[in-house]
Amino acid sequence: MRPIAEIQEEYQQDKRLQISAQDIYNKYLSRKGYIQQLFEQIHHISPEEKGVYGQQVNTLKQEIISYYESLIGAELSTSQSILPSIDPVSLADIHRGLGKYSPISWLMFRIQDIFAELGFSVDIGPEMETEHYNFDALNIPESHPARDVWDTIWVTNNDNSFQKLLRTHTSPVQIHHLESHQPPIRIIAPGKVYRYEATDSTHETVFHQVEGLMLDTNTSIATFKGVIQVFFQKLFQQDIQMRLRPSYFPFTEPSFEIDIWMNDKWLEIAGAGMVNRIVLKNGGITDPDIQGFAFGFGIERLAMILYQIDDIRLIHSADIRFVSQLGKTQL
Ligand code: FA5
Repeated sequence: MRPIAEIQEEYQQDKRLQISAQDIYNKYLSRKGYIQQLFEQIHHISPEEKGVYGQQVNTLKQEIISYYESLIGAELSTSQSILPSIDPVSLADIHRGLGKYSPISWLMFRIQDIFAELGFSVDIGPEMETEHYNFDALNIPESHPARDVWDTIWVTNNDNSFQKLLRTHTSPVQIHHLESHQPPIRIIAPGKVYRYEATDSTHETVFHQVEGLMLDTNTSIATFKGVIQVFFQKLFQQDIQMRLRPSYFPFTEPSFEIDIWMNDKWLEIAGAGMVNRIVLKNGGITDPDIQGFAFGFGIERLAMILYQIDDIRLIHSADIRFVSQLGKTQL
């Protein structure tokens, strides 16, 4: 824990050194800056001292904000002075860059393009789901231990008369699609999913998946492997080491996990398998000749491999320096 006096002193020194407005912002006022850290330290302060401590941090914060604003004002008037006297268009241009898609959006577009070349169309489903679509219709009954694997964020009202959930995976789109379409089916369903779980370098609570579903007569595991191989070749444009690992999902049989080798270890990037007959029946398909596969890729995990990112949390950290660097690479 750093005492407030130490940060005050460092700030005075930075003022003497005349560091830039941007540096003042990053160091003191940003989301991970010293002021935020001082606020976070408040748990360590005794209850009697909390009030005074909070006031001191707020005073310091206000002082730094005023100083920061004065620096911005000074920088603005210097840049104005080198411009022709009235030039609002170029003035605006100095301070704002053009926005662009995030790397995850780019990757989703790229994935859609690749699958479009393979004859897949795109469907999307709701992010707020019923238990029926997220679990029951996918052969995950209430008592089933697999239900615990997907740590669920529930959406309820005060008297619990309304209960829905934020979908934990994109697999419910399979059921929505089957309800209104007949085989042959070739779709992907990209979108956001939500899980109530602790984050670490490979896990986020809000992330993206792309579901795939292909059903026809004669659609086999060999078809699945072929489709996945073409997808990887087109996406990565270089040889990557991939393995299919036997796994378990109630909605596929047999089931696999797809791993890719990255930085000396296997990174799990998708779950997949041949669609379970029970799921086909729940979706209204009883013809025994119809069979096929489904998969669910983690899009952030694909981005980690594509951009060699070793911590998933960087992707949605909202640090513009990080995402704009990614935007310049291969996609
Ligand atoms: C599923 O979500 C299944 N619905 C996938 C599936 C679809 C299987 C169709 C069979 C048929 P799983 O929980 O393993 O499975 O997640 C799929 C992928 O999402 C993982 O391989 C991983 O790439 C990604 N993923 C899972 N949890 C996280 C997380 N917390 N943060 C980031 N990515 C995650």
